Amino acid sequence: MDKNEDVKMTSSPDKEVKLSYFDLQGYWGFTKHMGGLNATNKLLKMCYVTKDRYVLVVGCGAGITPIYIAKEYGCKVVGVDISQKMIEWSKKRVKRENLESNVDFKVADAQKLPFNDETFDAVICESVNAFIEDKSGVMNEYYRVTKPGGYIGFNECTWIKTPPPKDLVHYLNRTMSGANFLTPSGWIELFKNVGLGQITPKTCEITAFGQWRDEMNQLGSKDINDFMKSWSKFFDLLIKNREFRSYTKEIWPSMSVVRNLFNYLGYGLYVGQKVDK
Ligand SMILES: C[S@@+](CC[C@H](N)C(=O)[O-])C[C@H]1O[C@@H](n2cnc3c(N)ncnc32)[C@H](O)[C@@H]1O
Repeated sequence: MDKNEDVKMTSSPDKEVKLSYFDLQGYWGFTKHMGGLNATNKLLKMCYVTKDRYVLVVGCGAGITPIYIAKEYGCKVVGVDISQKMIEWSKKRVKRENLESNVDFKVADAQKLPFNDETFDAVICESVNAFIEDKSGVMNEYYRVTKPGGYIGFNECTWIKTPPPKDLVHYLNRTMSGANFLTPSGWIELFKNVGLGQITPKTCEITAFGQWRDEMNQLGSKDINDFMKSWSKFFDLLIKNREFRSYTKEIWPSMSVVRNLFNYLGYGLYVGQKVDK
């Protein structure tokens, strides 16, 4: 099965949930990026986020980073995601944190952002652009909504050792909604081509334990309960849902994928400045 997108869990309590990477994340209410909170902090510093900045977080998933930015820096933030379900989770979280006056969430496609030119001081994307086929097109869109002097910052999965084994590339592409990861120079090239200056790349290796620890650190005290619930939903599906069991079996990684994953795949932080003309 190369594309899982159209297979629905007909025996599931929630019949609208499809067996795909993003649909299931929307069902659990959790999303992630490599390096967790540690990487988010580094990226925000590299983008010079401070209290008086207006920040856009693209592909914000379940809303954890936009809420963190508003809490930590006290600035105004907008989070957008193409998934209605993710934005529902984000809105629920921001309400619970009482931060609705600082953080706004909208359903929007990164490739057609519903904002005027030169609106934001910083445009942040964490693990989003690997999923977008037209990477040059989306760069133009980020550039358009960034103010002159503002920053565009990515945290994206990156091949830190090349060439990656074919079975690993194929496995990740198949199980992660067509994800296409680049090398550091591939990501940097996108920044150069759109005309950004002062490009700062930082590539990082990770381990399975380090990734788990950094993801856990990212959860606020009020998120822990949701996190536990998401695991309980997972086990419930595993026990009760036949289609989900076959899907899990179908996407189970081979030993060689497990062995090679963190040897070849890390993440990169890439920041560029829209040069004031
Ligand atoms: C791996 S998740 C990362 C989410 C979040 N940034 C985080 O770090 O937890 C990728 C997110 O990008 C969103 N996404 C994918 N394509 C998108 C697009 N074209 N426009 C906006 N969001 C998109 C998905 O819905 C998903 O929430």
